[in-house]
Amino acid sequence: MKALVLNGPNLGRLGHREPAKYGTTTYTQLVESCHAVADELGIEVDVRQTDAEHEMLSWLHEAADDGSAVVLNPAAWTHTSVALRDACAMLTAPLVEVHISNVHAREAFRAHSYVSPVATAVMAGFGTEGYALALRWLGTNRR
Ligand code: DQA
Repeated sequence: MKALVLNGPNLGRLGHREPAKYGTTTYTQLVESCHAVADELGIEVDVRQTDAEHEMLSWLHEAADDGSAVVLNPAAWTHTSVALRDACAMLTAPLVEVHISNVHAREAFRAHSYVSPVATAVMAGFGTEGYALALRWLGTNRR
């Protein structure tokens, strides 16, 4: 099974970006931990981050074409992008939407997600551990 772990804008700055909200784990450490969990589960994983929406859309198109599972932290695009939602709707394998912070306990605009209605599962507030939890769920529910 192959899973793409896709991260939206500003997540490349994890570890330094608002650590009280997003923790001190760096993006590099997050990538390493995703690979460690994937190795343990025997799944192939590709972890990517972009600040460019068109690049994220192209990765989702790739996942749709390949039938790959996706763990997606859409970051701010969660709350703004119909284009992202439409790309997610094309996926055929499970899509897990992950947020490091509990978006429901923050500003009102973060409570709405364009992605959640087309996601298989949604996680928020588990910190960066949410990615490993999502991968473990995918690993035990593989098709
Ligand atoms: C986030 C929450 C979003 O509201 C925010 O714009 C992010 C990160 C999270 O992981 O908690 O960039 O998706």
